[in-house]
Amino acid sequence: MKKNIILMGAPGAGKGTLAKQLISLGLIHISTGDMFREAINEGTELGKLANSYIKDGNLVPDDVTIGIVRERLSKDDCKNGFLLDGFPRTLPQAEALEKMSKEISRPIDVVINLDCDEEELVRRISGRRVCKNCGAPYHITNKKPLVEGICDICGGPLIQRKDDNEESLKVRLQHYVQDTKPLLDFYQDKGLLQNFDSLVGMNVLFDEVSVFLKK
Ligand code: AP5
Repeated sequence: MKKNIILMGAPGAGKGTLAKQLISLGLIHISTGDMFREAINEGTELGKLANSYIKDGNLVPDDVTIGIVRERLSKDDCKNGFLLDGFPRTLPQAEALEKMSKEISRPIDVVINLDCDEEELVRRISGRRVCKNCGAPYHITNKKPLVEGICDICGGPLIQRKDDNEESLKVRLQHYVQDTKPLLDFYQDKGLLQNFDSLVGMNVLFDEVSVFLKK
């Protein structure tokens, strides 16, 4: 089975949703977005710094982001496989990851890219709701909770993310095109890239990716 995985895709392509499903394969989910949001909720210095970028849709500086991923990847629980969601997002981050995965002898097995057109991305982001407590993602039409406004998993209240507004989304999409999309060529050249159509719906996508990873 492929164990050390990068999940890529534009904002709203479904990285977080798929990652949370793939945890069932025994992989550790490492989401830089979730790590930053946790730090923001806790009011730490990292959280204050991250919030000053995230609220407007900008990227958190590379040195900060690389630092938190390096620390997380070196932990023992990653030795059986990890799923990087939202990292790397820039060329310096991809180069730093190359270096650190060699240092800890955990080379990347595959880069899964989720394809999704822009109209659908906007529809997904504008309809997304997340649990305030555990971060589980929902959607007002694609993935409704059993009880409106309440998380199925932990019973927490469902809210809209602060960066899920029209202006921030525009900036996030620009960063994706300028900074992150070029990484698809970077990984294609290394023979690691595998594209999946995320328009097939979340359950079909999960089945397709699981079958591929288990090969
Ligand atoms: P992050 O949290 O990583 O946000 P993002 O990349 O913008 O991605 P999203 O979380 O918005 O979308 P997703 O692809 O996970 O979609 P989801 O599964 O929720 O990062 C947030 C911010 O942190 C960044 O903007 C940046 O500022 C900072 N940051 C993070 N990493 C960084 C880094 N490496 N460097 C610098 N800064 C960094 O799905 C969206 C909706 O669609 C949901 O409602 C879901 O129910 C629905 N849906 C999902 N999949 C499907 C499907 N297959 N079919 C139908 N509906 C679906």
